[in-house]
Amino acid sequence: MMTWWKEAVVYQIYPRSFQDSNGDGIGDIPGIIQRLDYLQTLGVDVIWLSPVYASPNDDNGYDISDYEAIHPEFGTMEDMEQLIDEAKERGIRIVMDLVVNHTSDEHAWFQSAKSNIDSPYRDYYIWRDPVNGKAPNELRSAFSGSAWKYEPQTNQYYLHLFSKKQPDLNWENEQMRKDIYQMMNRWLDKGIGGFRMDVIDLLGKDADNQITGNGPRLHEFLKEMRRETFEHYDVMTVGESWVVTPETAPLFADESSKELNMMFQFEHLMLDEQPNTSKWQLKSLDLPEFKQVFNKWQTQLPETTWNSLFWNNHDTPRIVSRFGDDQTFSVESAKMLAILLHMMKGTPYIYQGEEIGMTNYPIQQIDQAQDIESLNLYEEKLAEGWTEAEIMETINAKGRDNARTPMQWTAGQNGGFTDGEPWMTVNPNTSEINVQAAVNDEQSVFYTYQKLIHLRKEHPIIVKGTFKLLLKDHPHIFAYEREFEGETWLVTANFSPETIRCSLAETSTPNIPMIANYDRSEYDLNELTLAPYEAFVVKVESNEN
Ligand code: NOJ
Repeated sequence: MMTWWKEAVVYQIYPRSFQDSNGDGIGDIPGIIQRLDYLQTLGVDVIWLSPVYASPNDDNGYDISDYEAIHPEFGTMEDMEQLIDEAKERGIRIVMDLVVNHTSDEHAWFQSAKSNIDSPYRDYYIWRDPVNGKAPNELRSAFSGSAWKYEPQTNQYYLHLFSKKQPDLNWENEQMRKDIYQMMNRWLDKGIGGFRMDVIDLLGKDADNQITGNGPRLHEFLKEMRRETFEHYDVMTVGESWVVTPETAPLFADESSKELNMMFQFEHLMLDEQPNTSKWQLKSLDLPEFKQVFNKWQTQLPETTWNSLFWNNHDTPRIVSRFGDDQTFSVESAKMLAILLHMMKGTPYIYQGEEIGMTNYPIQQIDQAQDIESLNLYEEKLAEGWTEAEIMETINAKGRDNARTPMQWTAGQNGGFTDGEPWMTVNPNTSEINVQAAVNDEQSVFYTYQKLIHLRKEHPIIVKGTFKLLLKDHPHIFAYEREFEGETWLVTANFSPETIRCSLAETSTPNIPMIANYDRSEYDLNELTLAPYEAFVVKVESNEN
C-alpha cells in the first residue's frame, strides 16, 4: 500500500473565504488557482477542499444538491479540472470533501422522494410515521431542535441530523449506496487525491433505536465503499468523527480493517467545555488533562493505525485565540502551537490562515452572525433563559464564523480577498496579520510553518519516531520526546504567558537546536528558563559522544 499521506502535510481550503477572483465577494476556484504558488512556497502536499458542489448553501456547501456539478459561485467543472491539473504540476493533490451522510433537500433524489411515496428515491432517505401525532422519537439535530421534520404531502417525518435542509441518506438502501459509489468513482477518475469524509461515523445509524454514531452496519458499509471505490486508486482518505476513541479508531483506520487511512478526532478540542454538556458550556483548559489526551492518542494506537493532527478547521475557533494569546504574544503563541503539533506523530493539517496566525473575530450582535449553527443556538438559548451577553460570549468563543472570515492576503481593502463586497466581513486586523506582511518578514509565523514542513521531509524521526510524554503533571510545560533508530528529539513548549523554570535532564545534556520561536543559541536542559509561550525542539546528543 502506498503511504505517501504519512509524510504529507495537508492544507484545508474553505473556498468561500479563500480568494475571490471575479469581484462577487465570494471566494472561487480560479482564486484558488491564483494562490497555488503561495501554497507551493509554504510546502504543502495536499489541499483538502471544503465542498464546492452545487448547493443552496443552507450549511455553506455541506448541503449538496448535485454531487457532480460545481456551484456557479465557485466556477465551472472546467475550472475544477484545471485546479486538479495545476495543483498536480506543483506536486499538490486535491482531496475532495465527501458529504454522504445527507444531501440537500434540493437534491433531485429528495425532490422526487418528498412528494411521492412510490418514488424509487423515497427509500434513499429515512421516513417514519408520526407517533401519537408527533415526531417518531427524541432524536435531536446537531443544529438545535428535533431531528425529524414532518412532510404533510405524505404524512411522514424525515430524519435530518443537521439542518432541515439536510435530509439524512438511508445507507441501508443498496441502490443508493451504488449511486454514491459511482459518483465517487467519477471524481476519482478525474484524478483527485482522495476524500475527507464528513461525519463518517453516522452512516450506519439506527434511527429507531436512536443510535447515530457507530451504528451496527457502519463498518460493513465502509469496507464496501472502499472495495467499490478508492481501493483501486492511489489516494488518501480521512474520516471525520466527534466520538471516535483510541479504542475505536483502529476499526476505521487500521491497515487490517481495510477502510480508511486515518481519522479526524476532536478529543483535544473538547477540553475547554464542561464535560458531557456541549461545546457552548465553556471551561478553561487544564494542561495536564490536555497532555493526557494527546499522550493517549500518540501511544495507544496500534503501530498499524495512523492518526491526523490538527488545531483548526472551518468548524472550530482560531487556535491562537483559543489556546494561545492573540493579543500580547500572538506571534510567539502561534509558533508555539505549530511546533508542538507538527512534531507529533501523524499527518498534520493546516487550516487556511493558521499559517499566518489569523485570529477569531468577535461580533457584538447576533445579526452579525452568518452561521446557521450560531443563529439557531441563539434562539434556543434565549428560550432556555440564557442572557444575551452569555450567548454572545459563547458564540464568540466557539462559533464557527470565527474560522470563516476571509483569508487575509494584504493590508489593503478587504485584505486583498475581493474587489467587491465580501460575503463576510474581513477581520480588521488584516492591517497587521496578512500573507504579504508574513512572507516579507523572516520572523513571521509563516516561516515557522514552512520550516516545520521542511523538517518533516528531511527527518524520518518526525514521521516514524516513538512518543514519550515528559513532565506529565506540570501545569504549564508541554514536553515530549521522539525517538527513532537511536536518535532522540526533545520538544518543549511553555503553554503560558509567564516565564517558567523547569528541568528536562539531570545534567546539562548537549543538544542541537532544530527549530524554535525565540532566538537562542543554546539550551541548558538541566536548568531551563522559558519565556512566555517559548517552544523549541532539540536533537539530544548522547553524553558518551
Ligand atoms: C461536519 C462539517 O465539517 C460541518 O461544517 C457540517 O456542518 C456538518 N458536518 C454537516 O455536514
